[in-house]
Parts: sequence; structure tokens; C-alpha cells
Amino acid sequence: MSVPGQQVDDRQRVRDASEIAAVIGEHVTLKPKGREYACLCPFHDDHNPSMSVVPHKQIFHCFVCGAGGDVFTFVQRYHHMDFREALEFLAERAGIELTRRAPAPTAAPGSGGSDRGAIIEANRVAAEFFRAILSHPEHGASARALVERRGVSPEMVEAFAVGASPARWDGLLATLEAKDRDTRAFLDAGLLKPKDQGGAYDALRNRLVFPIHEHPTGRVIAFGARRIDDEDEPKYLNSPETPVFNKSRTLFGLHQAARSIQGERLAVVVEGYTDVIACHQAGFTNVVGTLGTALTIQHATVLRRLCDTVVLLFDADEAGQRAADRALEVMFNEEIDIRVASIADETEAYKDPDELLKGEGGAAVFTRVIVNATDLLEFRFARLRERLRGAGIAETSRVLTEELARLGELGLDRVRPMRRRLILRRIAEIAGVDEGTIRDAVPGGRRGGASAQSIEPKSVLGRALGARQSMLGCILAEPSLWLSLHEEERLLIATDRFDSPTLQAVADSVHLLTEEGRTPGLSEALSELESPESQAAAVELERAVSRACDNNAERRHTLWRDCLDRLRCDELYTTPPSEPSDAGDGAIAPPNDENQSNQDQARLDKLRLVHQEVGANRRPRLLAE
Ligand code: UTP
Ligand code: MN
Repeated sequence: MSVPGQQVDDRQRVRDASEIAAVIGEHVTLKPKGREYACLCPFHDDHNPSMSVVPHKQIFHCFVCGAGGDVFTFVQRYHHMDFREALEFLAERAGIELTRRAPAPTAAPGSGGSDRGAIIEANRVAAEFFRAILSHPEHGASARALVERRGVSPEMVEAFAVGASPARWDGLLATLEAKDRDTRAFLDAGLLKPKDQGGAYDALRNRLVFPIHEHPTGRVIAFGARRIDDEDEPKYLNSPETPVFNKSRTLFGLHQAARSIQGERLAVVVEGYTDVIACHQAGFTNVVGTLGTALTIQHATVLRRLCDTVVLLFDADEAGQRAADRALEVMFNEEIDIRVASIADETEAYKDPDELLKGEGGAAVFTRVIVNATDLLEFRFARLRERLRGAGIAETSRVLTEELARLGELGLDRVRPMRRRLILRRIAEIAGVDEGTIRDAVPGGRRGGASAQSIEPKSVLGRALGARQSMLGCILAEPSLWLSLHEEERLLIATDRFDSPTLQAVADSVHLLTEEGRTPGLSEALSELESPESQAAAVELERAVSRACDNNAERRHTLWRDCLDRLRCDELYTTPPSEPSDAGDGAIAPPNDENQSNQDQARLDKLRLVHQEVGANRRPRLLAE
């Protein structure tokens, strides 16, 4: 059943079911702050919570980078989705059935590569295929045997949507051909490979398949596939990088682990797919895995929005020292505490978490390993202490200089001042040298802060609001003010009275909503506005006015009247002078009778007064303060 206008209805239903704090809270950890929440802004390199989430207005706004909007804006920007994708994501999240289906995504003709939607769709189809194979009596038998041998529980198979690829060259391919599906997106997703002589074949054959889910959409963005037959090489195959899959940003199991990571404010990072699953199975649900790489700065960026501490758990055989070195660089670039631990610290008997957790008392040992993880700096300084033991003056000085230079290379000079001081103090203690000396020896050690990373507050509005902008903000905050205006007064904020296209779009939405008989408040305006810039501008206008007026209606009304006077006053000075009795000046109501004309005179006087008072400063007083 589909009737016109249901898109609006869908939007409304989905929005009503998508409490903004809940949705954003699934992406970034929120801290309560009065009636609002504060969080790290995911749209710029944020180190102090600069983003506000305002439940009673159902908006978010970052006062540093200017990002802002409603729940749809957030999802669109965070996941690089278009509106329709965001609507579908939120609908699915809320368990809402949309009335109108989007047309099946297809690659833009002649574009060469498939777009994100087409690759996601191919992955979805493939994941379904792999799951069906795992339970296939014949084609899934060897994979099921491996699952059993590895002791993976049915619950974990379900939670991680584990599947299998059949031992043939045309398993997925034949299925697609039978359904008459275009194979291009599957080629682009790396699920099929092109043959030299034309045609294609399955990229994954005879493997246990682990879909890699994007958090928090749950969409499959890639696959990891383990060989079933030990003769096959390589042991693991990963999807290639695609527009939806960036290996160095992705953590396996994050979708399944995020809630627990947020709850514990701690993430454990292990090295393998099977390790992640074994940990979850043993009840350690805050565990994720890198995809065969060391922890990257991008991984840390994702994790730091969810928790404070990351424990890197190395396999027993891992060259922990080297990995810890790289992790230090990550820690200098992202404000997150990193601790390192190795299975080998507790036991020599097991090589990785998977094996450990299957052994007798494995869970207890695992817990000890995590709890006793060493702070990354301690870990490094323990070695430094070792090297300095019994060293003479020349040796100490050489080792220290070397160490400090290395820390500089790893990015110590980019660490924010407070944190850097704490680090330098620690080094000074270890070395038995005073802090000042150490600071002098570090490249950039005396410098103020991370100038390269500091970001200029960005705003479409400039420093303070002009009268016209303030009026727009007042309307968004309290639409009844707009409704109280006369027709000709409304022209004061006509679309073409604004210079910037973003503000024009906001003004336009107010007029448009009015024409449609809807209330031009912030949330309605946000649903009318299309570009993220104009949505951000609307939020910023409303926020600026609310802040200036302290959310106080009386102050807002004063501001409103001031602005109105201000603009009408400008109008008087810019429109050609007319006879006092002339009714042609639209800015002032025609004098119908004696009384009216007196009123106009009084108003005119007042306007002149306002003008004198405000003088050259064109901003209304309230916001100029
Ligand atoms: P491991 O060889 O330690 O495998 O590789 P594992 O996860 O313990 O697997 P099982 O227990 O033998 O089944 C660790 C991780 O390194 C990546 C994978 O992410 C793997 O989980 N890897 C390994 C590859 O990407 N390709 C390979 O050929 C091998
Ligand atoms: Mn293993």
C-alpha cells in the first residue's frame, strides 16, 4: 500500500522512534551535562567534548566544527549515507517497516566502479549465500566439521553470522546467474574474480567465512575467510579494499562488542578472527580484532569515541616490543590509554586467546592477563630503566638523548601539553634527571601544543549574529514569533535578503513551511533542508539565539523586538524618503486615522532612537555583548 506523502510519514515515524541521544550514543559515548549531553565530535579531530546532543530539541551541534542537525543528519554524515539510506538504517534499527521501498541500488551507468550501495548489497547477498552453504547437508559438511572441531558454539555462529564457501569455482557465481543478477558489484566487492578469457569465478572457495560488520549499522562491508583444508594457501583471505571497506580502520567484531566496550570503557584488541569469537564465547564481549595488521591510528580514533583504554593482547609468539613501539605512535596521536599484555606473561602453554580459553581455567588466566596489562609507557620505560642500570654519565646521556629523539619521531611533540608533561615527568623520574632538562631535550618539548591539529572554529555565521540572522534564529527557536509578523514584515527576512547560500536555504525553508501550513520551527526546518551545511546553519542559528537569551523567553522576545526595530530602521534609511502622509512605504502601516498616524510617528521616533543608540554597530545589543 503506497499513497503519496508517505515518505513524509515514514520520516516522521522513524524520527519519532529514533531518540537522538540513543542513536548518537551508539556511535559515541555521551556524558550527561544538564539537560543535554556532551561528547567528542566525530566530524573533526576532537579532544575535548565539543559536541552537544540536545534531547528536548532532538538536535546535535558541534561548537568547534559547526556540524549540526537532527538524527538523520548525524547518520548521513557519520556513515556517508544519503537520506534514503539513513532512513532505512534508522527504520531497521527501530523495527519500523517502511511503506515505500527504494529502487534496487545499481551502479551509475558508465561509472566503471560500483557505488557503495551496490557493494553493500552484493555483500548482503553473498553473506546470505555463505550462511546457506554452512547449513547445506553436502556443501557445508566440511565447514561444519571445522566449526565443531574448533568448539565454536551455535550461538557464536549466529552472533557473528558465520558462513562457508563451497569447494568449487562457481558456487556463488552459479547462484547469481540462476537469479539473473548483475555480477559487476560482486566483482568490485572482490567476491568474484574475472577470468582472463572472460567470465568470472568465486574468490572464496572451501573456506569458513566471517562477515565483517560495520558498526553500528550491522551492514556487511567485507569478509574474512579461513581455509578448511590445511593444504590451501593462504590461511586467511580478506576482501580487498573497496569504497565501503578500509582495512586499517576496521575492527572485526566491533559491531558485536561495542555495547560492552562502552559499558566497560575498555576494549581488548586481539589478533585473529577465531580469537575474537572464542573470547565472546567465553563471556569477554569487549574484544575486537584487527585484520592482520597492528593497531592503527584510525582504529584508535574509532575506539576512543567508545572507551578510554585499549588493551593490546599479543599472541605468545608476537614480537611484542616492535608492536608496542608502533602502538606508542598511536597513543601519541590519539588521546587514548593503551596497555599491552601477552599470553606469555601468564603461561607458556598456549599460543593465542583461542587456545588459552579452551584450556583448563583459561578464563581466569585470560582475566589475569587483561587486568595485569602494562601501561604502554611503563612497558617502554621498563626497558629504558634496564638500559640505564649501572650506566655511566656519558652512556646515560646518550641513551636518554636517543630515547627522546625516538619519542619525538613517534609523535610526542604532537601530544597535548598536559599529557605531554605527565609523560616527560615520568621519563625524568626514571632517568633521575630534572624535568626541565628532559623537556629541553625533546624535539618540540617546550612548544605550546599541537598547532597542526588545532582547528579553527568554523561557522557559517561569523562571530556574532546580525539582526536578520538573529531573527531567523528566533523563529527557529519560537516559530510563533514568525506567525505574529505582518506580511510586509516577513519580507525583512526574505530569502534574497541573505548573502550566503546556506542562510538563504534556511530562510527559504521558513517560507516554504509557512506556505505548506507547517510550523517553521527547528525540527521542521531540518527535515526540509537538504544540505548538511544548511542543516548545520539552522542548528547554529537556533543555538546562538538560545545561548544569547539563556533559553529565556522574555529575553528572546526582547531580542526579537530589537532586531525587528533594527531592520525596520535600516529599511527607513535605505528606502527613498516619502511624504509623512504617503502610505507607500511598506515598512510602516498606512496611517488610516489620526491615532494611527501618531502611533507611526512614535514608532519612527523610536526607530531613530534605536538607530542612534546602536550607532555604527549594526548588531543588536543582546548579541553584541
Ligand atoms: P593466525 O595465523 O594467528 O590465525 O593469524 P588465527 O586467527 O589464530 O587462526 P586459527 O586459530 O589458526 O584459525 C592471525 C590473524 O592474522 C590474519 C588474520 O586476521 C588472522 O586471524 N591473517 C593470518 C591473514 O590475514 N592472512 C593469513 O594468511 C594469516
Ligand atoms: Mn588461533
